[in-house]
Amino acid sequence: MFTEQDFILSNYSSIDKASFSWSAPSNIALVKYWGKKEEGEQVPANPSISFTLNNCKTITSVGVVKKADTSNFSFDLLFEGQSKEEFKPKIQKFLERIELYCPFLKEYHITIDTQNTFPHSSGIASSASGMAALAMNIMSLEKTINPAISEDYFFAKSSFLARLGSGSACRSVKGEVVAWGENKTIQGSSDLFGVEFDLLHENFKQFQDTILLVDKGEKQVSSTVGHNLMHGHPYAERRFEQAHENIFLLADILKTGEIEAFIKIVESEALTLHAMMMTSMPYFILMKPNTLEIINKIWKYRNTTNIPICFTLDAGANVHVLYPNAVKEQVLQFIQSELVGFCQNGQYICDEIGNGAKDLK
Ligand code: PMV
Repeated sequence: MFTEQDFILSNYSSIDKASFSWSAPSNIALVKYWGKKEEGEQVPANPSISFTLNNCKTITSVGVVKKADTSNFSFDLLFEGQSKEEFKPKIQKFLERIELYCPFLKEYHITIDTQNTFPHSSGIASSASGMAALAMNIMSLEKTINPAISEDYFFAKSSFLARLGSGSACRSVKGEVVAWGENKTIQGSSDLFGVEFDLLHENFKQFQDTILLVDKGEKQVSSTVGHNLMHGHPYAERRFEQAHENIFLLADILKTGEIEAFIKIVESEALTLHAMMMTSMPYFILMKPNTLEIINKIWKYRNTTNIPICFTLDAGANVHVLYPNAVKEQVLQFIQSELVGFCQNGQYICDEIGNGAKDLK
């Protein structure tokens, strides 16, 4: 297993210029990451596990040109081809955080050109896919100047760097199901990077995620603030234990294909995440009335049809509707006739399980 020390690069060559291009997907947590440890940077207070998405992704190209002055980071940031100054501080902070591990970055002027496949300000966080796509490009540069690294190292360090950009981004690098955070259930699991869970039962293959866009506005409380409110939270310790228990149960469910048991854990995790928000001090609510309308409709539909669909939520009002590929047609019909009315401008995005970042060069 890799340690933090293993990711510090010391011997490498140099190039005049190069360019790279990667796509990286978003992911949806089944067991939620909510809360960071006091010590360390971006160290999760509890383990999490997610489905990797396929269609919601960020595509990022990076060009590097050798420069003489190596005292500062130098980069341009383009979003959909246009210069985007307001995104630069976040990237600057990211580069500073990873400098120790990627000391070569100051030797180049870097041009980052990025775009998302999902609509701008859809309420779908682009930080996971965005940070993962950037990390992949940086690792392609590292591999160019240090070709000896193994494939395992390449992906583990990509996930490690992505984590330093945005915690959940480390689950957007490789694999259909990815676990992050040290736990007894998943072999090789680490607080430092995500690991692939590759024992997925047939029942979950091509699993569908239809994302209902309930509220596309800016979140009132960022996830950074939300994570911090878990420090001193009255239910934090029990919640962190529960996440370990749910990972234990879910790992078995994902192997054996028990959809009923899957639904119980996934819906409970979504509501627990929001319960933590509602019981923080200060308290807050990210769900909207239509989030609850949709949840109730899903429960009613499941009870009357026995079709195994369920919901999950991330840190926002949008609802992810999860269901097997085999019932796709019926479920899409149900969504169109009963749920679309609760979406902002009737918008939703059809996605499904994918398998991680892709090298586009
Ligand atoms: O990666 P962050 O800091 O944006 O946190 C993500 C938190 C949740 O999306 C709510 C849960 C998760 O595990 O992805």
